[in-house]
Amino acid sequence: MEESLLQTYLVTGGAGFIGSNMLHFLQRERPGVRTINLDALAYSGNLRNLDGLDGSRHRFVKGDICDRALVTELVGQCDGVLHFAAESHVDRSIQDSSPFIRTNVLGTQVILDVLLDAKRSGASKRMLYVSTDEVYGSLPLDRPDLKFTERTPIDPRSPYAASKAGGDLLCSAYAHTHGLDIVTTRCSNNLGPRQLTEKAIPLFVTNLLQGKQIPLYGDGLNVRDWLHVDDHCSAVLAVMERGRAGEVYNIGGDNERSNLELVRAILGIMGHGESMIRYVEDRLGHDRRYAIDATKMHEELGWRPTRSAWPDALESTIRWYRENEDWWRSNDHAKIGNSARSKKG
Ligand SMILES: NC(=O)c1ccc[n+]([C@@H]2O[C@H](COP(=O)([O-])OP(=O)(O)OC[C@H]3O[C@@H](n4cnc5c(N)ncnc54)[C@H](O)[C@@H]3O)[C@@H](O)[C@H]2O)c1
Repeated sequence: MEESLLQTYLVTGGAGFIGSNMLHFLQRERPGVRTINLDALAYSGNLRNLDGLDGSRHRFVKGDICDRALVTELVGQCDGVLHFAAESHVDRSIQDSSPFIRTNVLGTQVILDVLLDAKRSGASKRMLYVSTDEVYGSLPLDRPDLKFTERTPIDPRSPYAASKAGGDLLCSAYAHTHGLDIVTTRCSNNLGPRQLTEKAIPLFVTNLLQGKQIPLYGDGLNVRDWLHVDDHCSAVLAVMERGRAGEVYNIGGDNERSNLELVRAILGIMGHGESMIRYVEDRLGHDRRYAIDATKMHEELGWRPTRSAWPDALESTIRWYRENEDWWRSNDHAKIGNSARSKKG
């Protein structure tokens, strides 16, 4: 898709963590692009995440991606869709998977059907589906040579991952069957500003800022591949503008850390000792290791992360939470992290 043809993007879930960072990123990097932000303001959406956006280039619409009439109206006003909206927290999906199936599968199907209607009326529009590396399942700790490639079979292990895989597979089916212009990204764990305090890094940092211990699942050896959210946004933009229709692109920073390593790094940066770690019962079905092979992004689109160097990305993220206490305190009602992480033994 030609960059110059894209004047207006419909961004779903733009009041959440990555969606809002994408809106800010687009305003910095693509002054010619306007955005319509469709977000239901579920517990994870926050209008304060839109502070600082230029209102002449951004319009917020409160609404549900499952509302077909509304999605039809908004798709009619845009040139392409960046689909971030989702239920995104694994622990919540273990407690109740219903909202995950509704938003992540059925909501995605609604957008695809609207895009299909548009194509049949002669207005083909590209959609980028923001999937996740979690659709691949889990890698063993004793095989560091293994990484997820785009050809790794889909093998989701949590209800969250299964619901994202459902949306992901629908995208591939609509691209194949109907010739819709869909591109899909599968990214590793993000860190950065405006992430809800129920997720690991904001939970750990804001607990320490309040003098509370860090709840660490199981033996702490589960490995995640961390990427700064700005690098995720630059990758999404590259795929939207230059990715090949029907293709999947893995996004990652070659930055694997065990949870214990991550926690120790946070403790070191924030000046605390290991007495601030509280080991808690492991998450059910906890995936052991995620690791992304992003060769296709490097070789085909020339994309490289620029903000994910370690520990700089972690330091700047911690600084943001230190400097934005009113933001995370206003979100704390949504936190289930501490209560979901019950005491071990
Ligand atoms: N956070 C990560 O590390 C990560 C990594 C890879 C992929 N992803 C994917 O990126 C996307 C964004 O993740 P996030 O961490 O920013 O999530 P988030 O939970 O912070 O934000 C989700 C947003 O979607 C909105 N939303 C939820 N249901 C909706 C509905 N039915 N209609 C409209 N809006 C709705 C919420 O209000 C919220 O603003 C998700 O699709 C997620 O699967 C996240």
